[in-house]
Amino acid sequence: MTSPLPPRDPLQQLARSCAACRRCGLAAGRQQVVVSRGNPTARLMLIGEGPGAQEDLAGLPFVGRSGQLLEQLLAAAGLDSQSDTYVCNVVKCRPPGNRKPTAAEMAACRPWLEQQIALVDPLVIGLVGATALEAVLGIRGGITRLRGQWRASDQDTPNLGVLRGRWLMPLLHPSYLLRNPSQAEGSPRWHTVRDLAELRRRLIDPPLG
Ligand code: URA
Ligand code: SF4
Repeated sequence: MTSPLPPRDPLQQLARSCAACRRCGLAAGRQQVVVSRGNPTARLMLIGEGPGAQEDLAGLPFVGRSGQLLEQLLAAAGLDSQSDTYVCNVVKCRPPGNRKPTAAEMAACRPWLEQQIALVDPLVIGLVGATALEAVLGIRGGITRLRGQWRASDQDTPNLGVLRGRWLMPLLHPSYLLRNPSQAEGSPRWHTVRDLAELRRRLIDPPLG
């Protein structure tokens, strides 16, 4: 008797499909496609912009300098990235020279992101930086003003799709915090730890309805 085939894991299948993807020009410059790391059953998803050099080499998101700072900030807020979060990016391939991905590249990669959101099914999504805020909710600019404010998906997105019923919060990007390293009360970094702690609180005590 042959042994039964292992059950299909849709996230593994997604990773394989991404690895073969050439939907946009970023495919040409990549070493590896960077799909995700962390816990695929986490209720908290963090979405960044796109892989940098370290991520492109490792095949994992947020493992370079920004990633190390993100780890520290999460820890200060009582969160562990590997067990408490599922981490991914708007685009899965590294933009050359770390430039911002174009609107066309973000649109080309969006179906992968939507599949990740649908499969992981997080209650809470942290939009890490202005590019993630723009790509996911279509809101441009004003990240320093908008950070830390809850966005209920239905208030922002007329065509809700996969965001329905989820809570989203824009966060400052760790690369910005590396350039603004003060930890004093009221500093961008201080605010970010509080924002992450607020994400954690929402997981523990979700609003009814
Ligand atoms: N910056 C991002 O936005 N994502 C990464 O994965 C690394 C750095
Ligand atoms: Fe495909 Fe996204 Fe990579 Fe473009 S960035 S090739 S859409 S996986």
